Amino acid sequence: MHKGRCILLIVSGGIAAYKTLDLIRRLREKGITIRCILTEAGARFVSPLSLAALSGAPVYQDLFSLQDETEMGHIRLAREVNIVAVVPATADILAKMAHGLADDLASTTLLATNKPVLVAPAMNMHMWSHPATQSNIAVLERRGVQCVGPTCGALACGEEGEGRMAEVSDLLATLDTLLSTSTHTHQIEMAMTGRRALVTSGPTYEAIDPVRYISNRSSGRQGHAIAASLARHGARVTLVSGPTLLSDPVGVHTIHVESAGEMLAACEDVLPVDVAVCAAAVADWRAASVSQQKVKKRGDVKTLLLVKNPDILALLSQPGPRRPVLVVGFAAETESLLDNACRKRTAKGCDWIVANDVANNQVFSSAYNTVHLITENSVTCLRTMTKVEIAESLTERIAAAIRKKRVVGSPENLTQPP
Ligand code: C5P
Repeated sequence: MHKGRCILLIVSGGIAAYKTLDLIRRLREKGITIRCILTEAGARFVSPLSLAALSGAPVYQDLFSLQDETEMGHIRLAREVNIVAVVPATADILAKMAHGLADDLASTTLLATNKPVLVAPAMNMHMWSHPATQSNIAVLERRGVQCVGPTCGALACGEEGEGRMAEVSDLLATLDTLLSTSTHTHQIEMAMTGRRALVTSGPTYEAIDPVRYISNRSSGRQGHAIAASLARHGARVTLVSGPTLLSDPVGVHTIHVESAGEMLAACEDVLPVDVAVCAAAVADWRAASVSQQKVKKRGDVKTLLLVKNPDILALLSQPGPRRPVLVVGFAAETESLLDNACRKRTAKGCDWIVANDVANNQVFSSAYNTVHLITENSVTCLRTMTKVEIAESLTERIAAAIRKKRVVGSPENLTQPP
């Protein structure tokens, strides 16, 4: 079922290392390719020859092996497999992982990988329950490392307690789940890789004079999270951001603008793109004329003449050769959320609208959001999630929509960079 997938097994020093031999055999029966790294201590418990014979591939042992580096450098090894599994994981390797040490091939590879990591701790019960080990495990789990076991039972040292490595069947079950998830992520990456995406985020500032401006409460968190998520899944993302306190997302080309006019000009420069996500809270109005000097405080009443700003979402949605394959807008509403959002989708001509209720004013600076996704044929209510999770969910749906388009069109229809 996982044919063609690859697991990197890191075998560290512990009596349970012999169980990895059975694990390798069972994984290969499923068509999974295995690559092994054997630590110096691991080699005292299991021979490189056994691992090589069962995995059907050379075993990597030395960080400075010219031959290994020529065959497959350790960075490639760390990044080209689907999962990295440390079986067994000693207290020492867990400590190195938690603290980012990189003094041998195993720890260096673990620091370099961007793939899901599983650890199967195996050690004496006192070493396992020691606060240092427990704190290291807590750090690793917070970072998303999947820990399987240890279990209770007779330990190699003669004592009995929690420290036995998990059974091979439990490791197989967890690896199975991780591989399914990674297959899903891989499919998203396949659909998004090389695609060009434009995301707008944050508020705009519409100047009244050199000191004052009109703006809104948008923090930019949702838009920035979407840009980061699309980029993580392989898209080439340009983020056009109004003024925010956020740092530029990693791997995203960010253009900083202030006003709606500047945002529109920047977006038009970025076209053509495959996907446009307009998450910015663009000011609807701007001052009809911007005073060159600070406006004086004379009089009790002041009239400010406003003119309408261009609607970037509506302009990007206009039919034509430069229209993105998919245009997604946002609708922040304080009343009749779904009705207003559905109307907005049609009025602006975009494909999807992400609607969120901002009546209680808590969405803007919050890390959480509750949204409804409105498409031509459906309204999907997503549960309350962090803005990062909403971004992931949206990326997943965008990938599915784009993948379908690729089937309808041809690969040549992919937009080319200007
Ligand atoms: O009309 P309203 O401002 O509620 O529409 C919200 C959606 O339209 C958001 O996606 C926002 O980014 C976009 N928008 C825009 N240009 C404007 C106003 C809104 O792109 N001038």
